[in-house]
Amino acid sequence: MSATNDHTAFPEDFVWGAATAAYQIEGAAREEGRGLSVWDVFCSCPGAIDGGQSGERACDHYHRWQEDLGHMKDMGLQAYRFSISWPRVLPEGTGRINGKGLEFYDRLVDGLLEAGIRPFVTLFHWDLPHALYCRGGWLNRDIADWFADYAACVADRLGDRVSRWCTFNEAGNVGSLGHHLGIHAPGVSLAERDYFRLVHHINLAHGRAVGVLRERTRGEAHIGQAFNQNVDLPASDDPADVKAAEEKAFSFDPGNPWWSAHLWIDPLFRGAYSDEVRAHYGDAYEETVRDGDLEDISAPMDFFGWNYYMDWARPQQSDGQPVTMMKWAVHPKGLYWGPKILNARYGLPVEISENGLASMDWVTTEGEVPDHFRIDFMRRHLRELRRGIADGARVGAYYYWSLMDNFEWTLGYMPRFGLIHVDYETGKRTPKASSVFYRDVIRSHGACC
Ligand code: GCO
Repeated sequence: MSATNDHTAFPEDFVWGAATAAYQIEGAAREEGRGLSVWDVFCSCPGAIDGGQSGERACDHYHRWQEDLGHMKDMGLQAYRFSISWPRVLPEGTGRINGKGLEFYDRLVDGLLEAGIRPFVTLFHWDLPHALYCRGGWLNRDIADWFADYAACVADRLGDRVSRWCTFNEAGNVGSLGHHLGIHAPGVSLAERDYFRLVHHINLAHGRAVGVLRERTRGEAHIGQAFNQNVDLPASDDPADVKAAEEKAFSFDPGNPWWSAHLWIDPLFRGAYSDEVRAHYGDAYEETVRDGDLEDISAPMDFFGWNYYMDWARPQQSDGQPVTMMKWAVHPKGLYWGPKILNARYGLPVEISENGLASMDWVTTEGEVPDHFRIDFMRRHLRELRRGIADGARVGAYYYWSLMDNFEWTLGYMPRFGLIHVDYETGKRTPKASSVFYRDVIRSHGACC
């Protein structure tokens, strides 16, 4: 990938895509042999999800995937990031394979390739098989092998056609939201020593899966993880401010360790946990980390997937700051600074694995969804991304989150992130104005923004 000095151009091989996740779109939760995931069970807890909703039916993509593929073609997507539902493929999490589940992904991959759209598979986007949760889930060290076996099963079936892989989506949120704050599945709050075990087992599962994918994908595999590391925006372009912002974002705060890059990212690149982590977790560290683990964990990756929505360090900069429907502040400059800082720190090209916003979209009496704020949001972010690339940032792809409106976890179906509007009663899809804009962005390779 070559950086460019031309301020109007994205690199020639830059890829334009959109992203989704299995539990958020597929539905068919109890069909054709799928096992339960922790999200199915969590959604059944009173009060867990707004309006008592769940992904049981979601966008019914499991049955309507061909129609969804048609919309991807209309937009001219070059790549599609989707996740595999582990319990759809292995209903008990290990052992017995559900052939029908694998066939679904097999057909989807074929359909994408026929349409000239590159499949980008995420192995884990939060829907852990419930059966494995009952065996200790991420606290059981065996899960690293369970995950590697699952990766092998998927790679053996799809690895002849899929070359782009993401092991985990936002592992830090699996920890923080699911196992500390308890607001995501499985809805627990672990003691710190157990939290470290969970972190380490996820890291180990990731590393083992990288090895498996590398081995079993035919041709060259392109492997990464999608991180949601916050990159604090510098107060100004002054190098001292840039340095201060970096130090803040990548520090370890013993009072708030849950999302720290020292836990979730640095060990994957450095083959070691920091001194601060070792000191903080003490005995738990010694009991958990075994010889050879860190070599597995630090298996080399090919890109740094980065999900960017806002600078979480300054959710409300000032009164009147533009915010999305989820009250997330709009900070397009993150796409200027983030890739630069992440390239420098981790030495890999970045892929924007998610970026998008929820807005108040509905179908007008004219049958249209005029989501002009989404268009403006995308334009502002893509301009900053392009400016960063012109200044030397190495960025390979942009995936808009999300292809279509879907189940937004604890917030249910109210936030709408899609380029395609979904009527959840009828299943009807309506492309929003932003999908036409994105089509033009792709056609002009970003020149129209
Ligand atoms: C995440 C997930 C997505 C979300 C999206 C909007 O980042 O939380 O990857 O599943 O739906 O980010 O919140």
